[in-house]
Amino acid sequence: MYVTGEIHEDTRSHFGYEIAIEDIEVVGESEEYPITPKEHGTDFLMDHRHLWLRSSKQFAIMKVRNEMIRATYEFFAQEGFTKLDAPILTGSAPEGTSELFHTEYFDRDAYLSQSGQLYAEAGAMAYGKVFTFGPTFRAEKSKTRRHLIEFWMIEPEMAFMHQEESLEIQEKYVAFLVQNVLDHCDYELDILGRDKETLRKYTQLPFPRVSYDEAIELLQASGEFPDTKWGDDFGSPEETYLANHFEKPVFVVNYPKAIKPFYMKPHPTREDLVICADMLAPEGYGEIIGGSERETDSVKLEAEIKKAGLDLKDYEWYLDLRRYGSVPHSGFGLGLERAVTWITGESHIREAIPFPRLLNRIYP
Ligand code: 4AD
Ligand code: MG
Repeated sequence: MYVTGEIHEDTRSHFGYEIAIEDIEVVGESEEYPITPKEHGTDFLMDHRHLWLRSSKQFAIMKVRNEMIRATYEFFAQEGFTKLDAPILTGSAPEGTSELFHTEYFDRDAYLSQSGQLYAEAGAMAYGKVFTFGPTFRAEKSKTRRHLIEFWMIEPEMAFMHQEESLEIQEKYVAFLVQNVLDHCDYELDILGRDKETLRKYTQLPFPRVSYDEAIELLQASGEFPDTKWGDDFGSPEETYLANHFEKPVFVVNYPKAIKPFYMKPHPTREDLVICADMLAPEGYGEIIGGSERETDSVKLEAEIKKAGLDLKDYEWYLDLRRYGSVPHSGFGLGLERAVTWITGESHIREAIPFPRLLNRIYP
């Protein structure tokens, strides 16, 4: 509807202004609006996602998401990064072949991108510091609070950079996101009932670092994970325990090579490890960032590509990046919706994206 009236300052209003209404004109009538204040089941709400977006909580979450996107561009511009757009249709599978969306590309096979990283590496060799930001796809058969089939990822890649410097950028970026949401989304955080004091703790740097070896010891010493042994990947309960232990986002560094992708650089003194880090968010939100140093030796990389069961001819260009002058480089990927879910304090990732693609859901 159109509302006509005089606007005046009023401190009682959250926005600082009120309108003294003189006239209201209804421009679009609505009969029996399906979403009412009563409790609706999740399936009903998801079936009406196109309308559900109008409710105050969904409105607030999307505003926070928008602020995080805005702050992302500001942060990487201020840090001297160039945005480089990676393709969505691709022939490569950086994060493993089991979760690929297959499609046809005229007379050959193609996949929907799982990650823009390999292209970001080409960009880092040309521009020094780049980031990609786009939709990524994983045909994951997992139905959890943390998994989407289609999600947006921010992937910075930096030339002449080792792990520690990359971790410093990661924590600075995450603290910047939290700070900007605090500064610009006060009203939205109130709607969401998100505790601002808790968020403020996450702007305090540095974030703790713990090695994978130490993380395993912590989990074993807790008595809560009797079956956890060295070499295991962490599930959601392990990640929650570790992050709660530190009450801040925590980096778990240098995981076993066997559970990480082919492109990661091996540890110089521990052959069973790679130089990598996952950032785990507190309050049970789990991994929000995955990153690593990259293998720079074309011979070793070629062997890893073969070992991963990938077709070498699809990676010749990626090997060229090493053959024709490579430098130490590192990068990472932040899952936007994981970070939005955490910062807004929501319980399920489906609320962090306007139209979530979930296992068995592609409507609306
Ligand atoms: O740890 P991942 O798989 O790392 C990569 O894709 C690297 N290529 C990143 C890089 O080094 N450039 O994914 C990175 C992040 C995760 O930490 C998580 O936040 C998010 O992407 N993510 C998902 N978010 C929602 N749904 C899923 N199914 C996700 N899978 C990963
Ligand atoms: Mg990961």
